[in-house]
Amino acid sequence: MIFTDLEEQPADKILALMSAFNNDPREQKLDLGVGVYKDPTGVTPIMRSIKAAEKKWWEIERSKSYVGLVGDPAFSDAIISLVLGGGTPRDLVAAAATPGGTGAVRQGFELFKIANPDVRVFVSDPTWPNHISILNYLNIPCESYRYFDNETRGVDFDSMVSDLSRAKAGDVILLHGCCHNPTGANLNKQQWQVITDLLNKNGATPMIDLAYQGFGDGLEEDAYATRLIAESVPETVIASSCSKNFGIYRERAGLLMVVTHDSSRRNINQSMLAFLNRQNYSFPPDHGSRLVSVVLNDTDLRADWMSELEDIRNSLLNLRVQLSNELQKLSGSDRFSFIASHRGMFSRLGATPEQVEKMRKEFGIYMVSDSRFNVAGLNYETVPALAKAIIETGV
Ligand code: LMR
Repeated sequence: MIFTDLEEQPADKILALMSAFNNDPREQKLDLGVGVYKDPTGVTPIMRSIKAAEKKWWEIERSKSYVGLVGDPAFSDAIISLVLGGGTPRDLVAAAATPGGTGAVRQGFELFKIANPDVRVFVSDPTWPNHISILNYLNIPCESYRYFDNETRGVDFDSMVSDLSRAKAGDVILLHGCCHNPTGANLNKQQWQVITDLLNKNGATPMIDLAYQGFGDGLEEDAYATRLIAESVPETVIASSCSKNFGIYRERAGLLMVVTHDSSRRNINQSMLAFLNRQNYSFPPDHGSRLVSVVLNDTDLRADWMSELEDIRNSLLNLRVQLSNELQKLSGSDRFSFIASHRGMFSRLGATPEQVEKMRKEFGIYMVSDSRFNVAGLNYETVPALAKAIIETGV
């Protein structure tokens, strides 16, 4: 017997919430847990542009044979250009398609460990819980840096800088390129410049998790920090996800990029990414990434996708303003105005775990125990119910 010593693993708290919600028999319930966009009818729609790309590709596709170890070059080129714009020469970027953004994160971490067995990864407090879970799984020491100010619900920037000053060459600093998950609080341009200068000073390597490009201030604006850093520091690792901005969650499409300013290193980096794919799963999935490159390389489909994404982004902003106004009305104060200035799918409300539990039990409202809620799970009819529950649970 080989499995007798195995122990049951704790469930991932975000995914556990998904099944708890599905098992809740109440009709009046609201899922603000997992980061998935829902339209006003509560459906996570397939984007028009993706449906059209699927049709187009179905007509053209003649074979299901292997593509390439790092995926289709058209996908890499399209995402590199979407993420990096024109600022970084293409021949400095190594890239491999991965199963979703999480696949890219996981392989980025593995690459660090191969490059430096003593690597430490600095992660924001808080961060996406799976960052920490994967680092623990890979036995990579994880250091946290202060990030969120519980009083202002904004970024505690001075503390962040002070904690990151401890990082040195050989360490990695994990940053959320935009739309910080789970807090919704983000750096401004001046602050990104300070972080970039600090990276150049202490020699730590940045890794940017970019899972929500287009959900914050716009496709270009959300890439600002990633571009600034990639253009300014010697090496940058980027994990980009297509799950949210193309709405292709289950297809698992992501891209791991390694940017170097030393062109003689690029081919080595590229071979490392191919090696990692081969060891972990051989060829990456093709369908989702193919749909992305079909959309991005077709003028009409691309324009349609951009307008669909812009509609989603604007609806998130409108929901933020509506909720913040509603809470101002009910509380008679502006202490919830941070919701309107946060960006992306999430905001951290600042409720205690007991208050979160009470919202679930009494109001059927599901959010993560740290009080992260998914704005994209709301619609203008459910906002008042959430505001009422927030006030009635004493947040
Ligand atoms: C989230 O944070 O809800 C998403 O990134 C989905 C996930 O895999 O946790």
